[in-house]
Amino acid sequence: MTTPKFPRRVFSGIQPTGDLHLGNYLGAVKRFVEMQDAAWETVYCIVDLHAITVTWPGRDEMTRATRELTAAYLACGLDPDKSILFNQSAVSAHAEIGWIFSCVARLGWMNRMTQFKDKAGKNAERSSLGLYAYPALQAADILAYHATHVPVGEDQRQHIELARDIAQKFNLDYGAAYFPLPEPVIDGAATRVMSLRDGTKKMSKSDPSDQSRITLKDDADSIAKKIRKARTDPEPLGETLEAMEGRAEALNLVRIYAALAEISPEAVMAEHGGKSFSDFKPVRADLAVEKLAGITAEMNRLLSDPAEIDRVLMNGADRAAEIALKVRKDTYDILGFVSRP
Ligand code: TYM
Repeated sequence: MTTPKFPRRVFSGIQPTGDLHLGNYLGAVKRFVEMQDAAWETVYCIVDLHAITVTWPGRDEMTRATRELTAAYLACGLDPDKSILFNQSAVSAHAEIGWIFSCVARLGWMNRMTQFKDKAGKNAERSSLGLYAYPALQAADILAYHATHVPVGEDQRQHIELARDIAQKFNLDYGAAYFPLPEPVIDGAATRVMSLRDGTKKMSKSDPSDQSRITLKDDADSIAKKIRKARTDPEPLGETLEAMEGRAEALNLVRIYAALAEISPEAVMAEHGGKSFSDFKPVRADLAVEKLAGITAEMNRLLSDPAEIDRVLMNGADRAAEIALKVRKDTYDILGFVSRP
């Protein structure tokens, strides 16, 4: 069976839970915008079905978080005329293809998912079946669009590899060469932004400490304060990146700076190497404020008109459904499900 060449198409998504933080922005959204502006065909989703796997956010909170993430997408530069923007539950094919992929994925594969282990913790027996199965739904999100490229942060690599395995097994089992094998796009200086309080933990929406992350809703003062208080060690910045080896917190600040300034970590070292952190942090705080304050202001402006946000989502859902319902129909046909011609 030879795999046909699929046209390049980008898909990615973010859960509408908690506030979007610097890790989500640098690891994902910034890359979404770059790929859109480089004239890729881009489909970006607010994955609300994923957002009920750990707890029920509640009706009002779910609606609020969905609109807020949409506003964040738009404020960061996603353009509904260039990209398809929508919420996952508005296109039924995600759940429908997700079920089929739950029947393709093997338990052994799912048992290896490190994110399930992290999220379920010691309480795996009490976790929802949805949390366990969600990588199969994620594979459906991607493959319902025959997406070939998936921009994500490093923590999602294993899920994209699972999507490839699912596509490959489906193709082999049905001799169909129907789904592309999607590739993760994980590059740049900030594919794994770490907590500002602990350089061994990734920056995360679920960290109980608000000081561990900068969010797109923080005002200039709190951004500056969080950076000033970010944990470092007593040494000044090294002269080179190699010299920073083993200094997780310090390296994290360098990488964040590089990603915000759109330069390489090596270039940051060339400019700031040898400086003390009391000199480097204010420079970094100024840059973070400059890059993020405009996004926050634009988000707030957009949120004052929720009807317009909903309109963007529903238009996007119509365009997304055009692609995904066709893929679902083909998939059902390959499986031999009887349906309307
Ligand atoms: P989520 O909502 O946890 O995260 C959204 C995106 O942000 C990236 N990210 C980070 N990048 C760098 N440093 C960090 N500290 C950091 N924290 C988060 C994530 O890698 C991700 O790209 N399962 C996915 C959502 C999803 C999805 C999909 C993604 C559902 N279907 C299909 C791609 C394609 C998730 O929970 O991401």
